[in-house]
Amino acid sequence: MKQYHFPQIDSTNDFAKELLKTESEIIVTADYQTKGKGRSNRTWAGDYGNNIYYSYGLRHDVVPVLDNIIIYQIIGCLAVKSLLIEQTQNDIFKLKYPNDIMALDNSRFYKKIAGVLAEHSFLGNDCISSIIGIGVNVNQAIFNNEIFNNATSLKLLGYDKNVNELIEKLTLQIQFWLKKDSVTIFNIWKNELNLVGKIVELTSSNDKWQVDSILNDGRLLAINCNSGEQRKIDNGDSVRYKIG
Ligand code: BTN
Repeated sequence: MKQYHFPQIDSTNDFAKELLKTESEIIVTADYQTKGKGRSNRTWAGDYGNNIYYSYGLRHDVVPVLDNIIIYQIIGCLAVKSLLIEQTQNDIFKLKYPNDIMALDNSRFYKKIAGVLAEHSFLGNDCISSIIGIGVNVNQAIFNNEIFNNATSLKLLGYDKNVNELIEKLTLQIQFWLKKDSVTIFNIWKNELNLVGKIVELTSSNDKWQVDSILNDGRLLAINCNSGEQRKIDNGDSVRYKIG
């Protein structure tokens, strides 16, 4: 498998997408992204050289069932969580729906330490390749005001780690999870999220919803606490809820 590293790039996900037109499995990393992408068209920004900006791309030999492609986002989340626990020997990390990895910091609040953006390419209705994009805050110690209260890094948690060494270990974690069958991965994810029965708020409306179940395509089936209306919450929705 080829691995590409850039001091600076627009987005490792975008470059991986281009490479997958000719390559079957690749890793793209960078010290800095000028157009880093987050979920829901948000940007993903961070220090030069202090964090992991990583994309693992693979072309599919067998076209996956559309409902199942959520598995790549899940693999990204589980790989990061396992990496962080392995590296810190500290079980303070939790997944937050749909794609965040959170860490319990000294203030006893969960703050975001990493995010996953899985993207896919299609030929007609067939998903032909997938990219697991991962950003992990490693040595960044200052975050801008907007996200200051909600972001942390390994450094801020008291761990000094080498970004390149972490990248090598992250690849091993991804390869470990890619070998597992999707039913097992999905069930581990559902257990980790522990969302069924919980109340979530949609940030777009402040409405309260109770999670009824996690559907096979990764969406949440939720019931409005006031009106009883049913709704499917997906990757595009921003939800607030208490983790832990
Ligand atoms: C999120 O939390 O919204 C997802 C953030 C994903 C960021 C990573 S950094 C490497 C890869 N390239 C990108 O442009 N985005 C992902």
